[in-house]
Amino acid sequence: MTENVLQISNLHKRYGRIRAVDGLSLDVRKGDVFGILGPNGSGKTTTLSIILDVVNADEGSFSWFGGTPSRHDRKRIGAILEQPAFYPYLSAFNNLQIIADIKEVDHGLIPEVLKTTGLYDRKNSAFRTYSLGMKQRLAIAGALLGRPEVLIFDEPTNGLDPKGIAEIRNLILELSKQGFTIILASHLLDEVQKTCTHVAVMNKGTKLFQGTVAEVLNKTNLLELAGNDMPGLTAICGQSGDVKTLRQEGSTLLVELNEGVAIETFHDYLINQKIILTHLFIRKNTLENTFLELLKNNP
Ligand SMILES: Nc1ncnc2c1ncn2[C@@H]1O[C@H](COP(=O)(O)OP(=O)(O)OP(=O)(O)O)[C@@H](O)[C@H]1O
Ligand SMILES: [Mg+2]
Repeated sequence: MTENVLQISNLHKRYGRIRAVDGLSLDVRKGDVFGILGPNGSGKTTTLSIILDVVNADEGSFSWFGGTPSRHDRKRIGAILEQPAFYPYLSAFNNLQIIADIKEVDHGLIPEVLKTTGLYDRKNSAFRTYSLGMKQRLAIAGALLGRPEVLIFDEPTNGLDPKGIAEIRNLILELSKQGFTIILASHLLDEVQKTCTHVAVMNKGTKLFQGTVAEVLNKTNLLELAGNDMPGLTAICGQSGDVKTLRQEGSTLLVELNEGVAIETFHDYLINQKIILTHLFIRKNTLENTFLELLKNNP
């Protein structure tokens, strides 16, 4: 069985009348790249602040590594909640020395984290001369000091240009390969789709969905069909108990299959009914479809 890294149970946090987090439960396991996805104001940062003991919850509980929070556990977690304050006139290396002292970790680890984040060649440049992307990578380098097992990132690519975004995403994928468990909050679907193995969709402090990203993307139960005999095709599809919805879209028939129905099974049914298809296309699901659908149904 995979190890539990974080368990959140029925967490609540109010700010006056605003329910920032409203009964949230989550499970993160070792090796997950866990995306908390939600629109602005859905409670992502508040959730991360609670699990990092920066903010106290009103109700509910969370536990790290299957136990009650302790000082030692905090050392197993590296986090970037907001842009850390670096000294602009000091070099990246000197800035990391200061962080290492605060964290009470050996300076010998600094070259390693600089290499991991691709900053080793620029280690002697002053922080103020760094690009935004490099600053973010330095923040990640700081989080890596102390060799944590879990990394927490809040909107890791905010404000970066496409190149900077790609660099951070590749770095996250690389860190995942190295075995880190990663929890990241993002309002960007694309980000979660590209970097995460698991996703929890949040809205207004509650969780609308939790599952694997692959599961969401492979939920392909929407088919485009066309044949020489469209009325016949429509009738046969309409008679199938496996079809959930059916509608004409342009020159094709859009068929949504019931959950769990294999496309092959439905295709066999059509062949048995002597239907000859001139077009069969499986519409790939995207996280975006699922996300928008969830938000539409839970305004
Ligand atoms: N310190 C605070 N005081 C009052 N309200 C707050 C505070 N922090 C958060 N909130 C409110 O709680 C709700 C959730 O905020 P939070 O920052 O957790 O959302 P988020 O999902 O991180 O949003 P974003 O994508 O914009 O970062 C919002 O309505 C926000 O205004
Ligand atoms: Mg936030």
